[in-house]
Amino acid sequence: MPVHLVEHPLVHDALAILRDASTPPEIFRRMAVRISLLLAAEATRDLPAGNVTVETPLGPASGRRVDGDVVVVPVLRAGLGMLDAVLELIPSARVGHIGLQRDEMTAIASKYYSKLPSSLGGSIVLMIDPMLATGGSAVAALDMLRDAGAHEVRMICIVSAPDGIALVEQHHPDVHIYTPVIDRGLNDHKFIVPGLGDFGDRLYGTH
Ligand code: PRP
Ligand code: URA
Repeated sequence: MPVHLVEHPLVHDALAILRDASTPPEIFRRMAVRISLLLAAEATRDLPAGNVTVETPLGPASGRRVDGDVVVVPVLRAGLGMLDAVLELIPSARVGHIGLQRDEMTAIASKYYSKLPSSLGGSIVLMIDPMLATGGSAVAALDMLRDAGAHEVRMICIVSAPDGIALVEQHHPDVHIYTPVIDRGLNDHKFIVPGLGDFGDRLYGTH
């Protein structure tokens, strides 16, 4: 499975701030937006674009405008912290939502919400979820996207673990994953180590 490790120094600068346990929610949210912009730019490098001519104040200039259909799908809740960044880059994108919640004891994800746009077959689908830990949530979300007709799915996450990468590879070998880092592993509670803690809780100030 293609895993794209994003090396940009600004990505890793934001990641270090996100990891820091002393980072307050307001800075955490800003860094989530910043890193998501950079990761989304990487994941959309080959977006289809058509030639255009525009009039500058000094005359015609040829250029390119993005013209493919893009669908962004945040996995709730934590994925919502990445959505505005992706929409800033691709304002015309359609948006689907998938709600999944990991059980605190078993770490098994269960679905509580799904609303996806129609006709996903010809779209580039960007699934955004900051944490890829056991991979259970990712595989459940990717199954739902496939069942809804999506063919071309890319996943953007901020921290990933070897287990999650392996599970996605096993179930969805054609999905490209864009991530800055593959951390050491998981602890007894299936949290990524060293990771950054509970992304949703840090984003929203819950625990
Ligand atoms: C987190 C995260 C992923 C999932 C990753 O969500 O946003 O969706 O855990 O873990 P996994 O790879 O082991 O499935 P969580 O279920 O904690 O919900 P939240 O976003 O509402 O906090
Ligand atoms: N979800 C999180 O928010 N963090 C982890 O480390 C694992 C799952």
